[in-house]
Amino acid sequence: MEKINLENIVVEPFSINHIEDVTSIHSQVLDGWSMKGLIGDLANEATESYVATYEGRAVAFCSFIATEDAELVFICTHPLCRRQGIAEKLLHNAIIALPKTVNSIVLEVRSKNDAAINLYKKMGFETLGKRRNFYSFPEDDAIVMELIKGGIMGLN
Ligand SMILES: CC(C)(COP(=O)(O)OP(=O)(O)OC[C@H]1O[C@@H](n2cnc3c(N)ncnc32)[C@H](O)[C@@H]1OP(=O)(O)O)[C@@H](O)C(=O)NCCC(=O)NCCS
Repeated sequence: MEKINLENIVVEPFSINHIEDVTSIHSQVLDGWSMKGLIGDLANEATESYVATYEGRAVAFCSFIATEDAELVFICTHPLCRRQGIAEKLLHNAIIALPKTVNSIVLEVRSKNDAAINLYKKMGFETLGKRRNFYSFPEDDAIVMELIKGGIMGLN
């Protein structure tokens, strides 16, 4: 694992310059993932995506669909850089950077994804409910969570 000084992590909007790094992170996290989705993100006006960079390289990525409110669609940190506060910093800064009209952020997460659930709880997300058998391969329930933007730590 690479030891990273969080002060040197910069959160910035996802751009074409980050495609190679983010592709590499995605391919280690998602089976059968294709670059098409990422390029689609760049083209889609409703999609707001951010990266955490370290020494000029993207080490984490997150993506929202933001209309009146926002949905966190995906977040991942490079497997070699995890558990150092990078996702927390990325999510915090990204939520602050979302359009001012966005009041709340919702998400669905696999009930067995303890790392992500703990991250979201730490950020101030609250559980709204459960969708049974929402996921397949492997089958799992979805936990639905919500954060009221003013409720994010340090943003009051
Ligand atoms: C979930 C994920 C993004 C966390 O990234 P990260 O950079 O390692 O997270 P951070 O270091 O910022 O952790 C912040 C908090 O999240 C929780 N957390 C993170 N990883 C955890 C783990 N493996 N087990 C339990 N809690 C965990 C902890 O509460 C942690 O705070 P702490 O270290 O003070 O205890 C990362 O594990 C990942 O990329 N997973 C694969 C993709 C994924 O499942 N994404 C979510 C669904 S889209």
